[in-house]
Amino acid sequence: MPASPGLPGPDDLAWLPATVHVSHHPAILHKLALLRDVRTEPKKFRELVREISWLLGYEALADARLRDVPVRTPMEETVGDELADRIGLVPILRAGLGMLDAMLELMPTAQVWHLGLFRDERTLRPVEYYNKLPDSATVDVCLILDPMLATGGSATAAIEVLKRWGAVRIKLLNLIAAPEGIRAVTEAHPDVEVHCAAVDRQLNERGYILPGLGDAGDRQFGTGRAG
Ligand code: PRP
Ligand code: URA
Repeated sequence: MPASPGLPGPDDLAWLPATVHVSHHPAILHKLALLRDVRTEPKKFRELVREISWLLGYEALADARLRDVPVRTPMEETVGDELADRIGLVPILRAGLGMLDAMLELMPTAQVWHLGLFRDERTLRPVEYYNKLPDSATVDVCLILDPMLATGGSATAAIEVLKRWGAVRIKLLNLIAAPEGIRAVTEAHPDVEVHCAAVDRQLNERGYILPGLGDAGDRQFGTGRAG
């Protein structure tokens, strides 16, 4: 498959660790192009975030553990499956909120633990402003939801919060990741799986992903500065 202009091709991504899963599903890639498009308005943008999140989440949870459950069909007794893992969804405020509904559709019994982090525009370091986690972990698998993995500062901070909480199996779900962010997260936390729809080329001098999609929070919530 040749590289698209401005995007790394498969050969350029040979360095990715085995814990990083980049989806090549046509439905995701089609929606991702619409998501990137500067003409896509917030309503459509939110729909696309939700749809891509559902597809990525479906792939990311393929190894969730099951246990047997007895089922009585209209015909006879049989055995079915039910989720054995307690799933925790951790949307990173604000932009991760747009991924939450899709994940709750997939996993209706999941617990939701919001984490408030924003990136200081000057230092690019994450600032934590909301965290109501109880004293010890109440889930078996944590899925961190954040559309963008740029420097990796926010994701690394979120993973550290969850590990201090006692979380053991942690997965990071991003729509678009930069190589810089993937390196930062996988070097600091090689046990964390990353699932994303694309690995883009690089960050610009302000820490934005190229080609990226701009500011994911502003595009979802219509808060970008005009002009
Ligand atoms: C964005 C994004 C990530 C972070 C990624 O959030 O949703 O949380 O930046 O950047 P990093 O990998 O360099 O840390 P932002 O700080 O813009 O906050 P918002 O979601 O409230 O808009
Ligand atoms: N946060 C965003 O929303 N977009 C980027 O490109 C980088 C960080």
